[in-house]
Amino acid sequence: MASVTSLTDLVSEQLASALSATRPEASADPLLRRSDRADFQANGILALAKKAKANPRDLAAEVVSRITTGDVIKDVEVSGPGFLNITIADRAVVENLAARYADDTGRLGVPLAEKPGVTVIDYAQPNVAKEMHVGHLRSAVIGDALRGMLDFTGETTIGRHHIGDWGTQFGMLIQYLLEHPGELAPPSEVDGEQAMSNLNRVYKASRAVFDSDEAFKERARKRVVALQSGDKETLELWQQFVDESKVYFYSVFDKLDMEIRDEEIVGESAYNDGMPETARLLEEMGVAERSEGALVVFFDDIRGKDDQPVPLIVQKADGGFGYAASDLTAIRDRVFDLRATTLLYVVDVRQSLHFKMVFETARRAGWLNDDVTAHNMAYGTVLGADGKPFKTRAGETVRLEDLLDEAVQRAAEVVREKAKDLTEEEIQERAEQVGIGAVKYADLSTSPSRDYKFDLDQMVSLNGDTSVYLQYAYARIQSILRKAGDVRPAAHPELELHEAERALGLHLDAFGDTVFEAAAEYAPHKLTAYLYQLASLYTSFYDKCPVIKPQPPRDVAENRLFLCDLTARTLTKGMALLGIRTPERL
Ligand code: ARG
Repeated sequence: MASVTSLTDLVSEQLASALSATRPEASADPLLRRSDRADFQANGILALAKKAKANPRDLAAEVVSRITTGDVIKDVEVSGPGFLNITIADRAVVENLAARYADDTGRLGVPLAEKPGVTVIDYAQPNVAKEMHVGHLRSAVIGDALRGMLDFTGETTIGRHHIGDWGTQFGMLIQYLLEHPGELAPPSEVDGEQAMSNLNRVYKASRAVFDSDEAFKERARKRVVALQSGDKETLELWQQFVDESKVYFYSVFDKLDMEIRDEEIVGESAYNDGMPETARLLEEMGVAERSEGALVVFFDDIRGKDDQPVPLIVQKADGGFGYAASDLTAIRDRVFDLRATTLLYVVDVRQSLHFKMVFETARRAGWLNDDVTAHNMAYGTVLGADGKPFKTRAGETVRLEDLLDEAVQRAAEVVREKAKDLTEEEIQERAEQVGIGAVKYADLSTSPSRDYKFDLDQMVSLNGDTSVYLQYAYARIQSILRKAGDVRPAAHPELELHEAERALGLHLDAFGDTVFEAAAEYAPHKLTAYLYQLASLYTSFYDKCPVIKPQPPRDVAENRLFLCDLTARTLTKGMALLGIRTPERL
C-alpha cells in the first residue's frame, strides 16, 4: 500500500470520535494546528462547548479522558479554557515518514483525491503578432504551478491557451502582407527572435500605411469582412501570422522551461463558428436583450458613470462578435464538450469585470451552476523595484525574453561565485535553472492577487525566501548523501528524537496536506511558504544534530540521513510542482 495517512489526519480522526462520543448531539469539527508548545494544538472544543452549553474546561477534560494514548498520541492535556495540546510518539513520526520514504511512485505516500474533478485551466494566453510582456509571464507561471498542484491531487486538468488571434487589427496586417508578399519568412526558417522581429516590422509598417493612407484603410476594412466571412486567401495569410507567432511563443515558453502543448493552444478564433449559436441561445432564453440593435446583457450591480448600467455586449449592432462572445462560447465548449467541473482562468485583475459579467451571464443561462463553477484567479500587476508598474528606463514595456535573459545572467554570477568544482558549461546550465526558478518563485511566493515587485537582486539572493536558497538546501543534502559513504539512509523508529528532528519530521508529514490546501485555494504561495519553512527547519536540524561529523552512532547517523533524504525528496517534489528545477549540484 503506497498511500500514507498524515499524522494530522490520524489525530483528527481520533479527536473527532472523542468529540462526538462526548456530546453525540452536538458534534464539532476539530481544528488542528502546529504550535510551539506542542506538536498539535486542537481547537474545536470551544465550538462544541458552545453548542452543548457546557463549560469548555470541563468538556475538554471529558474529551481527554476519551482519547486513548498509545501508538500515535503519546500525550494529550488541557491547555487554556478549550484547547488541547497533543504530543505525538517519536515512533509514530518515524514510522509514518518511513512509509512515505518507501513509496516508490514518487508521491511521498500522498493519496489521490477521492472525487477528483475536471478543471479546464485558461492560462498563458499571449496575443498573435504581439510581443509578450510581464503580464503574460504571470499568467504562464501561476497557471503552470496551479496545474502542477492540481494534477498532483488527482484532478484531471486540461489547458486552454486562449490566445488573441482574432479581431479587426488582422484586416490591416493581412492587407499589408498581401500587398508586400514575402515579408514574413516561412516559420520553419526562423527562430523565435527572428519571428518576433519580422512580426514587429510588419506591424509597424502596416500601421504607418494604415494611419496615413485612407485608401489602404478602406482596403483593410474590407479585408476584415473577408476574414470574417472565411475567404480562403485571407485565412491563409491570417494563418501565416498565427504560425509565425507560435514560433515566437514556443521560444519564450521554452526559455521559461515550460511545456506547452499544441492541441491546447485554442485561441479566440476557434470559437467563431459557435458564436451565432451562443447569441441565439442567450436571446431565446431571455438572458440577453436587444438594445439599440446590439445584443446585450444587463446587471443590477454593474454601473458606470451617472449610475448608467454597463452591459456586456454579446453582439454588436453591425452583427460583429467580440471578446465576450468568444469567452461565452468557450464556456459552452468547456462545459459541454470537455465536461469540465471547474473553469479556472488565470488572467490579469484588470479583466475582472469582464469575467464577472461573462460568468454571471453563463450562470443565468444555466451553463454554470452549483456543479460547474468558474473562478478568475485574477493576478496583480508586476511592479519595478521602485514600486511603479514595470517599465524600462525609457518608459517602455520590458520584453519578456530580455527580462529572462537578465535573470539567467544574474544567476550565473551567483553560481560562479559559489561553485568551485563546476565547469563553465555546468555553470551555464545551472544558471538557467537558478535564474528561471528565481523568476518563477518570486512570482509564486506572493499571493497572486497582490502586485509584486520584480527585483532581480532580491530574487537571486542566497538568503531569504528565494528559490536559490531552496535549491542550495537541496544541493547541500545531495552532497551530504554523497559524502556519507557506506552509511546509508535508514529509518530507525526505535530511536528517541531530538526536538529539531521532531519539528522537521512533523513538517515533512504535512507536505500532502499542504499541497491539497494550496491547490484547493489556488494559492501556490502556501506551497512556497511550506517549502521555505522546510528548508529552515532542515537548517536548524542540521545545526543541532550532527549527521556525519562528529560522527554519531551508526543507527542515529542512518536515521538522520534518512531525514535528510526525505527532506530532499520533498523539496524537489514541491519545487517540481511549481515548475522549478533543483540541480543535484550547485
Ligand atoms: N489574450 C488575452 C490578453 O492578452 C488574455 C486571454 C484571457 N483568457 C480568456 N479566456 N479571455 O489580454
